[in-house]
Amino acid sequence: MSAAQDLQLRPGQSTELLKELHILTREGKLNQDSRRKLKQVYHLHQFIDQLLKELPAGEDGPAIVDHGAGKSYLGFIIYDLSLKESGRGTVYGIETRQELVERSRALAQRFGFERMQFLHTSAAEAADDQSLPERVELVTALHACDTATDDAIAFGLRKHSAAMVLVPCCQAEVAARLRQGKALSLSRTPLAELWRHPLHTREMGSQLTNVLRCLYLEACGYTVTVTELVGWEHSMKNELILARYTGKPKRSSAERLRALLAEFGLESLEPVRFPALAQEPAE
Ligand SMILES: C[S@@+](CC[C@H](N)C(=O)[O-])C[C@H]1O[C@@H](n2cnc3c(N)ncnc32)[C@H](O)[C@@H]1O
Repeated sequence: MSAAQDLQLRPGQSTELLKELHILTREGKLNQDSRRKLKQVYHLHQFIDQLLKELPAGEDGPAIVDHGAGKSYLGFIIYDLSLKESGRGTVYGIETRQELVERSRALAQRFGFERMQFLHTSAAEAADDQSLPERVELVTALHACDTATDDAIAFGLRKHSAAMVLVPCCQAEVAARLRQGKALSLSRTPLAELWRHPLHTREMGSQLTNVLRCLYLEACGYTVTVTELVGWEHSMKNELILARYTGKPKRSSAERLRALLAEFGLESLEPVRFPALAQEPAE
């Protein structure tokens, strides 16, 4: 089936770019995997494009930093559809795998996408990287592995990002801590039944991680919406967290976050993942 019949390509979308990204075959067709990927990225791009129209940005246009960029499908599509024509705005891809960084650099050069940069660094180290601007309007992280989403959030807070668009991957840190404290929790609260079996520990850890992330963002002055990225048949990691800065930190969210950490015996995570809680919110 051709791409046009199967999934509507966006107006202005470069089919050559999609071929180079291996989303389209040489014949311009989509296979099942790439169809799923394109659907996800298009859906995400819809939100991002809207945000870019609304966000205040300096003369050079918005700085967008994509964490765990991988092959940079998302970055290339944002650039192609939202930034290319306007001549303003820069996409930065953060990726720990050198070969993917080099591949993306080469592709950007081939397409003349001058305002795309790829950094061989981790999401945790990116905030100290001098080649990134002081202020970043938009942070994205699509299935950035494990705690890279937490690092992307910390990055967004450091860079005073106006918005963050996050689709978390699996996260093992909270599950590991739940596992460690399991015996104690079981004796303390019947709620610990929710993570007694190993499969439930993983699922509960994942769910709890995203709940804590949302509360943290609210506590730091963001409004948060949580929706599905695409139908579950398309991806198991399907939670889309959209956060927009309002400048009004929510004290109640900070309190809830702390209460949840205490309930689950996860207090040691506070200084590691939620350091901004130490600064008391205004309301
Ligand atoms: C599952 S892939 C997703 C790639 C891309 N965002 C997408 O959706 O196609 C996750 C990527 O994050 C990279 N990665 C893992 N940990 C990272 C970290 N701490 N900082 C930056 N990149 C990381 C991996 O090398 C991998 O390319």
